[in-house]
Amino acid sequence: MIGPGLGEASSDSYNRIPYPSYPYSQTHPDHLAALGILTGISPKPVNKCRILELGCASGGNLIPMAYTLPGSECLGIDFSKDAIDKAKDSASKLPLKNVAFLEMDFASLDRSLGQFDYIIAHGIFSWVSKEVQDGLLSACQELLAPNGIAYFSYNVYPGWHLYRVVRDFMFFHTRGSSDNKARIKSARSIIEYLSATMPAWQPLLGQIFSHVQGQIKNSQDGYVRHDFLEEVNEPIYFMEFVERANSHDLQYLANADLNTPAYVPGDVASTVMEGVDDDIEIEQYMDFLRSQFFRQTLLCRQELPVDRTIKPGRLTTLLFSSQLTAPPTHTDPISTEVMEFEGPGDLSAGTAHPLTKAALIHLTTVYPRAVPYKELLDEAWRTLARADADAPNIDDEQSSKDTEILKHNLIRFYSQSIDMMRFHTFSPGFVTEISDKPQASPVARLQAQSDLPITNLYHQNVTMDQFPRDLLGYLDGRHSHQDLLEIAVESVNQGLLEVAVNGAPVKDPQQLRENLAPVLESQLKVMANAALLVA
Ligand SMILES: C[S@@+](CC[C@H](N)C(=O)[O-])C[C@H]1O[C@@H](n2cnc3c(N)ncnc32)[C@H](O)[C@@H]1O
Repeated sequence: MIGPGLGEASSDSYNRIPYPSYPYSQTHPDHLAALGILTGISPKPVNKCRILELGCASGGNLIPMAYTLPGSECLGIDFSKDAIDKAKDSASKLPLKNVAFLEMDFASLDRSLGQFDYIIAHGIFSWVSKEVQDGLLSACQELLAPNGIAYFSYNVYPGWHLYRVVRDFMFFHTRGSSDNKARIKSARSIIEYLSATMPAWQPLLGQIFSHVQGQIKNSQDGYVRHDFLEEVNEPIYFMEFVERANSHDLQYLANADLNTPAYVPGDVASTVMEGVDDDIEIEQYMDFLRSQFFRQTLLCRQELPVDRTIKPGRLTTLLFSSQLTAPPTHTDPISTEVMEFEGPGDLSAGTAHPLTKAALIHLTTVYPRAVPYKELLDEAWRTLARADADAPNIDDEQSSKDTEILKHNLIRFYSQSIDMMRFHTFSPGFVTEISDKPQASPVARLQAQSDLPITNLYHQNVTMDQFPRDLLGYLDGRHSHQDLLEIAVESVNQGLLEVAVNGAPVKDPQQLRENLAPVLESQLKVMANAALLVA
């Protein structure tokens, strides 16, 4: 047989090449609860709930999550002994009383675990056999609390029909070896070679090889092993996934990522989907049009009344945060000019609507704080009133029209990307003021000692250079700014950090202090703005 046969991934395979275990902000119950509220169900408050992560690996997702939700109970399950031992070890180094890990096969899941308000199965479904997939859905139905939300991510067709060519080729090319590391190395190098050469003589396939090369280039070996060289990889069409869920008395609630990863022009979508009004069918059409290869789907119990047409009125119980920044010389919000808010990455949000501009200005000013709806609206109106003190009072009708437009715009930005606009159901416990003896999240401090990404209190990964990463370790609430400065000076003395003025390295301690003090203060500010400080 060319390509993988039907098999079952064993715990041994995950023990030998561990899967990189990272936090995924889109799996955080806060995000799931916001989507639950938007779709008309009443999810359990996230700071008093039970969370189950299936296939938690070494706890890279569940541990930071548990830290942000001290009032909730978190349980992680995985059949890899090594991964569970590592998860327990990491958790034991943190002040956490609300997280537990069990070495267990999915086949042994049963009601004795009790019910959970949030069940997370990230990167699991496609990597187990059909029987185990059904077992997972059935366990999920039994273990999900009445208003519970389950998150599943999985590989989908039609995108995976394209990837499959590359995956089968990797399998075929490495078929002679049983040494995992050697297989990964060989697969990486042949894909790198073909992605560089193939587009010239085989443009159609060349594009696919190049795309996969882009995916695996900077990824860890565990990703290549389990996504491309694993025996089991069972992609599925979205509609089939929904039907399979239905057959276990679960229903489709929402996409965890509302955004559409690849653009489809509106007229193409409307031509292809003329007369189609079922939202599940629309999702499936969109998968064909986008060549979708991965999905993140939220499920809930079949009997819950779900309304997936997001009603702006449901926004009023939520909180909002935005990582956008206002244009440096922003015009008066009252004007009808479009204001473009930037980033992160190459994201941007433009609006000419005065109330929306004023609301975004407030969010950008107070970031990382999440703002309750009422405060957002009141502040936005206040900003407009200040900007145009002479304007006559707006009548009730106009004011409610503007409020509706604001709500629609918030949903529009949120649907574009949660990196641009986030909806929350609670405020995590970070501080934005820098104290005399700053304290960073203990999770981030522990992560800084490894090669793991640094996670903030919004469960997002924060990119950091080496100096702030090293600094994090000392932000334990016992070191003053002066102590931190001396530590930075010592880092220069030990050759771990370099300070140069006009290209010449600085060695003199006093000069070092003068140069490092502003750097230190600005790094602390960056950390506070990144929701990393807790005291
Ligand atoms: C591809 S990894 C995904 C890990 C993590 N959820 C993530 O997305 O980063 C799959 C995980 O599921 C675990 N796993 C696979 N089959 C399992 C089973 N039958 N019972 C329990 N755990 C299983 C593996 O040990 C591994 O940690």
